[in-house]
Amino acid sequence: MWNDPVVSGPALAMDGMSALVIGGGGGGIGRAISRAFAAAGAAVAVADRDQDRAAEAADELTGSGARAVALVGDVRSRSDVDGFVTGTVAEFGRLDALATVVGGQVAFVPAVRLHEMGDEDWDLVYELNLRYVARAARAAIRAFLHQGTGGSIVSIGSVTGLMAAPRQAGYGAAKAGLVSLARTVAAEYAGDGIRMNVVACGAIATSARPAGNAAQVPMGRIGVPDDVTAAAVYLASPLSSYMTGQTLVVDGGVTVRGPFSARD
Ligand SMILES: NC(=O)c1ccc[n+]([C@@H]2O[C@H](COP(=O)([O-])OP(=O)(O)OC[C@H]3O[C@@H](n4cnc5c(N)ncnc54)[C@H](O)[C@@H]3O)[C@@H](O)[C@H]2O)c1
Repeated sequence: MWNDPVVSGPALAMDGMSALVIGGGGGGIGRAISRAFAAAGAAVAVADRDQDRAAEAADELTGSGARAVALVGDVRSRSDVDGFVTGTVAEFGRLDALATVVGGQVAFVPAVRLHEMGDEDWDLVYELNLRYVARAARAAIRAFLHQGTGGSIVSIGSVTGLMAAPRQAGYGAAKAGLVSLARTVAAEYAGDGIRMNVVACGAIATSARPAGNAAQVPMGRIGVPDDVTAAAVYLASPLSSYMTGQTLVVDGGVTVRGPFSARD
């Protein structure tokens, strides 16, 4: 049907590129992006703190004929994040695209109203959704500048960064920060051929987060990881070479509906 999920991105849009996917071992969006980048022709470094997931994802890609490597580390460590970039360059000789996928709230801290939230939870959710992205972007930009080739950064954001996010204040603020970060990177490095864009996802069903209320989505269904991958391939590849600092919303229409239904 016209609004069924897509199953792959544009063929070979990333042919010959070297890509790093931070959080690429996950069962949801991260793994789907790793697969889509490989299907689009890229060599893919799958970085994750979970060694088994990273290895399994890289093995899957290698088994399908792609070049892939597993890198293990924690995004809360600056040296691990730097190591993801240097490890990718060591393996493939260069870095052309970075996707930051690690993030979320429910997996890390409780969903409570702002006055109930402690500093530790705020800091953790901020670190896992924004601070490491700036860290990874810095490392990738240094590599892009050193190579003199330019490059593309794609960050997986959320509609919670674009509208009120009850019981998700820290998560929403961090995801909103990605929107600002992408704009600033765009402005600072456009002349170097370095681009940064965000994909703001609505509810996406994954193994870790299967539920969701389809009735709240104008398109009548919850998203699947492959709904996000086409946007990620587009933004990571030269298909979007005239686009930077932007936020592409993939949410089945949630953010545009407001209080109105089709019958109003
Ligand atoms: N699923 C949704 O409904 C939804 C909606 C909006 C936005 N998002 C965003 O999509 C992204 C992916 O979400 P997902 O639920 O599909 O996850 P996912 O299945 O893609 O898994 C993320 C991966 O990150 C890894 N990871 C977690 N903490 C890490 C750390 N400290 N260091 C290194 N790796 C770590 C995990 O091992 C996992 O493999 C997140 O940024 C999330 O905010 C998801």
